[in-house]
Parts: sequence; structure tokens; C-alpha cells
Amino acid sequence: MDRLENARETVLKASRAYYAHLGYYEERTRGAETTKRELDFLEFAFRTHATHNVREVLDVACGSGRHILGLAHRGYKCTGQDYTPEQVQTAQARAKREGVSMKLLQGDATRLKYEGEFDAVLALYILFLLPDDDSVLTCLRQIHRALKPGGIAVCNIANPFHKGEDWFSLKAIHQGHYFHETRVPGMRYISIDRVQDFDPLHGIAWWQETHVIETPDGVHIFRERERLRLFTYWDILHYLQAAGFKQIKCYPDWEIKPPKKPKADWLVFVARKD
Ligand SMILES: C[S@@+](CC[C@H](N)C(=O)[O-])C[C@H]1O[C@@H](n2cnc3c(N)ncnc32)[C@H](O)[C@@H]1O
Repeated sequence: MDRLENARETVLKASRAYYAHLGYYEERTRGAETTKRELDFLEFAFRTHATHNVREVLDVACGSGRHILGLAHRGYKCTGQDYTPEQVQTAQARAKREGVSMKLLQGDATRLKYEGEFDAVLALYILFLLPDDDSVLTCLRQIHRALKPGGIAVCNIANPFHKGEDWFSLKAIHQGHYFHETRVPGMRYISIDRVQDFDPLHGIAWWQETHVIETPDGVHIFRERERLRLFTYWDILHYLQAAGFKQIKCYPDWEIKPPKKPKADWLVFVARKD
């Protein structure tokens, strides 16, 4: 396997290239049902864990806007930001098309300048992509600062110990490759991934990914790299505590009422600022 460096700039550059090209197509493969379920969960978390009515929401890596737009449609006052300008532009175009108003900005999740402004802050499908663990702690500290007292943070990680074969599982990483095909109306999306480097000491995997996307306007092929940090429940619990959060609850797989033995592919944390 090729040894890759993990310098902050290298990771950010790879991530930006990945989402600039693929964000738009990935978004189209995600079923509306998945996003609806996650939005319902978010509203449940707002009602259950915040000490006051949630009105103002910040999404610190909003991508092309599926959560933040959904929340704006449900009546919240929304701000979204993302590091990749192409993702922000897609979100802006969607907001315009759908007639919802919100602030959408380009920005790094580790350089948040807000102070006591939001009732809820989201960091969804992002912590495991940040360049290093210092960035994760910085991001969570800045989220804590951005919240009003009694407001909540919602963040999630992929659980590497889960039993499935997705790209974030230890199984796929040890296997060294992962293949995935998704079909949605008007699009066939094939992703052929190979582990380029795996550092089992620090829990870091670099994937080399080839994406073949067939659409009515032709075939698009992208080759990108993606870095994944394999966090456990305990890592995020400790980082949230270090960031100043005291009331922290974890919901496996976005389940409002987790079954006795949850699958726990995804761990969703809801943390309140006291
Ligand atoms: C997996 S997508 C998730 C997007 C969105 N939260 C969702 O759930 O659909 C990860 C997003 O994080 C963004 N990103 C990567 N590094 C970032 C950083 N340092 N600061 C802010 N956004 C970042 C990428 O541009 C991409 O849009």
C-alpha cells in the first residue's frame, strides 16, 4: 500500500476535490426517505433535549444542503456553511429554486466565529472527515461557543465495529476493497474503492475511489481520494465532554427509540450546552 501523509492541507485538498466533483451526484443517489427520517430525528432531538424552543439552526458542513434546506422548509431560521464552494453553490441554487431563504456561506468547520447565537448546531457526516483529531476538538469547542445556553449540538460518526460491509467498516478496510452500485431514476452510480493506506494505530484509512456515473447526458468518471478517521463511541463522548458538553446522549442509527440490540452502523450524538 502507498504510504500517504496526513498533513492538514493534504486532507483538505483531497476532500475539496472529492466534494467539488461528487457532491452533486451523491446527493441525487440519496433517497428522500433517508433525509426525511434524519430531519424527523433532528426535530425530535430539538424538542427533547433543548431547554427552549429551537428556532435558529447552524449546519457546519451543510454539503448541498439536504438538512438545512429541509429545516428551512419546516420553519427554522437557518444558516449553512461548507468548506467546498461547489457544495455551497449547489445549496444556494437549490434554496433559490425551492423559494426558501437562509444564509449559506463558504467556511471551515474548525473556524467558526459564532458566539451564543444558535439554538442548535449540526455537524453531520463530517467529524470523521476532518484532517486530524485537534480539528475535531476545535470544531466541537467552537460549536459549544456558538450555542445559546440550553441549545444542542447534533453530530454523528460511522461506527467501524458495525457488522455490515460498507466502506467505513473494519471488514471492508481489512478486505482492502469495496464495490457499490446505486440506481435511481436517470442515474446509475458505481463506486469501486480500494484501500490505499490504513494506519491501524491511529485509526486512519485512505481510500482510492473510482466513481462511474451514467446519466442520460453521458458517462462521468471521477477518481478521488478520501480519508476516513475511524472513531469509536468513546472518542466522541470524550471530545464532547472536553468541548464543555455535560448532557450527552447517543442514538444508534437515528432511532428515536433504539431497539434492545441496535445495529449501530451510525452513532448520532445529541449534546446540550448548560
Ligand atoms: C459527507 S458530506 C456531508 C454533507 C451534509 N452534512 C450531509 O449530511 O448531507 C461532507 C461535507 O463536509 C464538507 N467538508 C469537508 N471538510 C470540511 C471542513 N473542514 N469544514 C467544513 N466542511 C467540510 C464537504 O465539502 C462535504 O460537503
